[in-house]
Amino acid sequence: MEIKSVVVIGTGTMGQGIAQWFLQQSLTVEMVDSNFEFAQAGQAKIYDQLDTLVTKGKLQSADVEKFKPRLQVKHLAEIDPQADLIVEAIYEDKEAKKDLFRKLDEMMKPNAIIASNTSSFPITELGKDLSDARQKRFLGLHFFNPATIMKLVEVINGLETDRSISTELITWFNQKGKVACECNDAPGFIVNRVARNFYGESLRAVETYDLEKIKEVDKVMREVGGFKMGPFELMDLIGIDVNLSVTESVYKAFFDEPRFKPHRLQKEMVDGKRYGRKTKKGFYSYE
Ligand code: NAI
Repeated sequence: MEIKSVVVIGTGTMGQGIAQWFLQQSLTVEMVDSNFEFAQAGQAKIYDQLDTLVTKGKLQSADVEKFKPRLQVKHLAEIDPQADLIVEAIYEDKEAKKDLFRKLDEMMKPNAIIASNTSSFPITELGKDLSDARQKRFLGLHFFNPATIMKLVEVINGLETDRSISTELITWFNQKGKVACECNDAPGFIVNRVARNFYGESLRAVETYDLEKIKEVDKVMREVGGFKMGPFELMDLIGIDVNLSVTESVYKAFFDEPRFKPHRLQKEMVDGKRYGRKTKKGFYSYE
């Protein structure tokens, strides 16, 4: 499989990391966001990250100087229709995603692959309005945060996805140092399904906002459980808003299965705009 150019749509937490990872594979990357200034800020942030990696001795300065001009910020109407792969990482909003895919289906070359980084929506449903030919080239590519570091990529086939494409993509990612695995198109795929209980039971363990209890749970899970991050630290990193919408979506998709039920505290944090690191305040403070 030859992938030379990628378009990443949605340049928030995930889109930035995904764009940077592709850039570091020496690909041409276009970044699009409905808020053009977000995309520009994302590009500046990626440049900073690359420079930091040079300072730390993890990348060669000559390589970074080659990468930088390959990253461009575009409006959706201006993207290269010949791009090989499009990765969507916009808000977890089903209708907005479907609307975007319909546009991309018309704009992009016939053999372009269109992928969604959705955390929880069924791939078959997201792709169902696309042309028959495009549905074969439509699939889920679920990266993890931060996408430049986390190795796992869940590759999700919809009912119509051509299996040879996902198989080739898995090989391609694995050759580039990722750990790509094929997942069923079931709510939450693998990690987000298993992780619902990691977050849900932790929220039930503290019940109401109490920083000392929160720290205690994180400490136990890190130091005894062997997790790299505790559940509350991880929710702050992912975004409590994103985490809540994933929980709601998995809960609904499993027909209100009680073990996936969102917790009141999650909702309370979101209502108070305490989304985690991105708003500088979540379960912890990042001022
Ligand atoms: P975010 O809120 O940080 O960024 C979303 C970006 O999409 C924003 O910059 C927004 O302006 C832009 N956007 C919204 N609608 C758009 C449209 N129609 N066209 C172009 N741009 C648009 O969200 P985040 O966290 O990056 O999540 C993006 C997707 O990735 C979601 O589907 C989420 O479920 C998924 N995801 C999130 C992970 C996380 O740890 N945050 C992990 C894996 C997947």
